[in-house]
Amino acid sequence: MTRAAITGWGKCMPPAVLTNADLATFLDTDDAWITQRTGIQQRRISHVLGSELSYVAAKRALACAGLAAKDLDLVVYGSCSSEEVVPNTASAVQYRLGAWNAGAMDVNTACTSFLYGLSTANGLIRAGSVRNALVVGVENISPFMDWDNRGVAVLFGDGCAAVVLQATGDGDDTGLVADKLGCYADSRQILRVRGHGTTYSNREVTYGDTAWDFDGQEIFKRAVHGMGSAAADVLARAGVTPDDVHLCVPHQANLRIIEFVAKRAGIPMERVFLTVRKYGNMSSATVPVALVEALEEGRVAPRSLLLMPAFGAGLTFCAHLVRFGERVTPIDTVDVELPPCDKTALQLVNELRALKKNRSRSAKGLAGPIFPETQAVLAGSTAVA
Ligand code: COA
Repeated sequence: MTRAAITGWGKCMPPAVLTNADLATFLDTDDAWITQRTGIQQRRISHVLGSELSYVAAKRALACAGLAAKDLDLVVYGSCSSEEVVPNTASAVQYRLGAWNAGAMDVNTACTSFLYGLSTANGLIRAGSVRNALVVGVENISPFMDWDNRGVAVLFGDGCAAVVLQATGDGDDTGLVADKLGCYADSRQILRVRGHGTTYSNREVTYGDTAWDFDGQEIFKRAVHGMGSAAADVLARAGVTPDDVHLCVPHQANLRIIEFVAKRAGIPMERVFLTVRKYGNMSSATVPVALVEALEEGRVAPRSLLLMPAFGAGLTFCAHLVRFGERVTPIDTVDVELPPCDKTALQLVNELRALKKNRSRSAKGLAGPIFPETQAVLAGSTAVA
């Protein structure tokens, strides 16, 4: 049976670091509260768009797999922060890479977008219509973050990573072994970004003037339940026990959620790979960035079995079980970097907060261009942040 194996991996983290102390300069919060309730100490703020982060991560993943962009049959852009609704952002990545033989699609299931994208590419590989796929998990959340809401602003950050999936030969047991996708749609109202989408075209809430609905405690409970049940499902269907899992690479929204899920799944924390302290919740970028770092740090031995549970708005949840092959090091590397960032993360955030204040003002009077900076981006002359 053909499977989809992860043969390439690469990440691209924006360099600007936003600390808890930075957040306390404009929010009524402090390092002790954030660290104790979430485990988060830092997060990154991007000075470039998601397609730029994706291009760098994708080049690194392709070199790691020993493939050229022309070898790709599919580009999947897993994100809830696509640059535009039409055209999709996967096409921007295809264009930057020159992956002219590839189809290109965006997948948005919020924080689970990368893993839902992995399932999509896996299905197409198993069906025989795709042989080599690039799956990106990327978020540039900072432009639509609710920066004056301490209940959400302290939790999230920007980031990106990509993997190359390739069809395995018959009899090869590596690759995606089992996956479970789910959604508690009856809880879709407890995590919502207002101000994004056609619902807001009536101008009661202006597009881009974002505010978050966020019931943290309810999300917490459903996240533990969804990830726990999806993890149990894939283990049972693969006929393996928690002891067979070498490493758990979970979605990282809150250290306490991870501890509950690991306990429920029967996996000790020594076998859970954590990035939440330094990156916070990067939505769909969280699991792939953690996966890449686990590989870079030698935590993935040849033939390891990895469990990757996640949850996100919707409320979507999932778990994926992946068996690595003998190779857990890159075939090649590539010399590609982001353009330099000449601002601190706090400067980037304060610029975004100022833009949002101006936007709210112009929305109230409904006068003037509502999104001059977005128009500039679309014209190709500047970046949002
Ligand atoms: N700094 C300081 N105080 C804060 C704060 C902050 N950043 N955010 C909230 N508080 C306050 C609240 O106002 C509340 O004060 P009160 O008791 O005077 O009313 C108090 O802290 C406790 O708030 P509560 O919401 O009960 O805290 P909590 O223990 O549930 O932790 C979350 C809040 C958001 C950290 C937690 O619920 C969580 O992580 N939920 C999951 C959310 C998530 O991961 N979402 C991502 C989806 S992909």
